[in-house]
Amino acid sequence: MVLWSQTILELRSHLATYRRQPEYKIGLVPTMGALHQGHLSLIKRAIAENDAVVVSIFVNPLQFSPTEDLINYPRQLEQDLELCRQLGVDLVFAPEPGEMNSSGNTKALNNMTAVIPPQSMTEVLCGKYRPNHFTGVATIITKLLNLIQPDRAYFGQKDAQQLAIIHRLVRDLNIPVAIVACPIVRETSGLALSSRNQYLAPAQKQEAAKIYRSLRQAELAFRQGELKTEILVNLVKQELSQAEGVKIQYVELVDPISLKPIKEIEQTGLLAIAAHVGSTRLIDNIVLQKHQPIIAIDGPAGAGKSTVTRRLAHKLDLLYLDTGAMYRAVTWLAMESGVAIDNERVIADLVENIDLKLTSPNGAELPTVVHVNGQEVTNAIRTPEVTANVSAIAAQSAVREKLVKMQQQWGEQGGLIAEGRDIGTNVFPNAELKVYLTASAAERARRRWQDLQNQGREDINIQQLEQDIQQRDERDSNRAIAPLKKADDAIELITDNLTVDEVINKIVEFYQQL
Ligand code: PAJ
Repeated sequence: MVLWSQTILELRSHLATYRRQPEYKIGLVPTMGALHQGHLSLIKRAIAENDAVVVSIFVNPLQFSPTEDLINYPRQLEQDLELCRQLGVDLVFAPEPGEMNSSGNTKALNNMTAVIPPQSMTEVLCGKYRPNHFTGVATIITKLLNLIQPDRAYFGQKDAQQLAIIHRLVRDLNIPVAIVACPIVRETSGLALSSRNQYLAPAQKQEAAKIYRSLRQAELAFRQGELKTEILVNLVKQELSQAEGVKIQYVELVDPISLKPIKEIEQTGLLAIAAHVGSTRLIDNIVLQKHQPIIAIDGPAGAGKSTVTRRLAHKLDLLYLDTGAMYRAVTWLAMESGVAIDNERVIADLVENIDLKLTSPNGAELPTVVHVNGQEVTNAIRTPEVTANVSAIAAQSAVREKLVKMQQQWGEQGGLIAEGRDIGTNVFPNAELKVYLTASAAERARRRWQDLQNQGREDINIQQLEQDIQQRDERDSNRAIAPLKKADDAIELITDNLTVDEVINKIVEFYQQL
């Protein structure tokens, strides 16, 4: 049952129960309700990363101008509460407007202390057309952060200007919270999900999907080397000149952090658009980034992930981020140092100070080259003794946290491919390409049986293998640490009738379309 509080008093008393546990991490997802899959992706991520999650639902009058849709903004609290309940949200804070002002008076909201973001960030993009909007957002977000004091707060890249302003806000005012940016969730047509899409008729939705297509057109040119703002912006405008139902308000290319207009892309650019479809105003954006993409491959055991990943890394000249080798390296180090495998405290120290390096081998069939504290351990980490202990090490949360952090730091440079169970959901939720590689249990059993036959094992029962595989899938999907999960924005590739080469070619195709 979701706890639902409408008053600050109730909110505080619920929060007090969480805070009794000092290590408890609280995540906040601020929303205006009418929840859709975009919001839900933020909530799911917050649930995965925190001990308790608060979702706020508040249609904030401060961020609407008198001519905007405050009165008609979709409100569906019952449905939103049910969605939050299903996801396992701990607390929904859904105050009435009067509650959000110290005088308790709805009208007085406009008369409260305001948090005004830097003008340079509000006079561009949406700010030009929505005066005071971002002051309204910054004010209410400051208030929510002060009230709830979360460890992490989650925002969508969909509202890129809002996100940049909130990043700046917490930096400028030293608000102790980590802002987590989450990728845009789209319909299959490419249309970014938005509560305002409810206003669109089916034909208008089709027109609206052209907005993203026009951004992709510019992205394609960028990938082919075009860096000039004028040309990239004009490409979007040209593409949309053929979409009769879409009336552009602005197309701008700016620095994604400062939001300052740029003449050409040095490293990254935020290409953002606002347009009307009928009377509905829609926004969308795409980040054009010069770094090489990250590919995340997840899927159940036995779907061929490691062979495919290793060969793709070689073919696309990406680093194979061999996460398995990393856990092996820690296991090797613990054994080498004579530490008992269950001595979590000492192992946490070891992993905190480990100097771990992975380098690509010279051939697609060779294992990743691994150095630990300056010593090459490529083969030493692959002995049966290490194999026997690696899962006990991987189950230790300090090890997991440190290695995931290390993987994410390497990921900042881009240009890598990783495989596992939660690479696209947890390690690299912003990966440019996510593939969920899977095959039916029967097919995986058949492949395994074939392998065993080739090794001369003729006593194996294929039905038993299939049952084992089903049980393992069940365990992997439900385990507390790094459960197997398909990311919402992953492409599912069922490999039952495909050869390894066919799987690789398909992924290369997806990669080339990025
Ligand atoms: P709202 O429009 O309800 O959005 C709440 C959060 O969901 C925002 O961080 C937004 O960026 C994110 N979001 C919306 N659509 C998304 C999509 N398609 N993919 C990913 N994330 C998406 O933004 C607001 O509310 C308000 O301004 C708020 C921050 C709550 C302040 O009042």
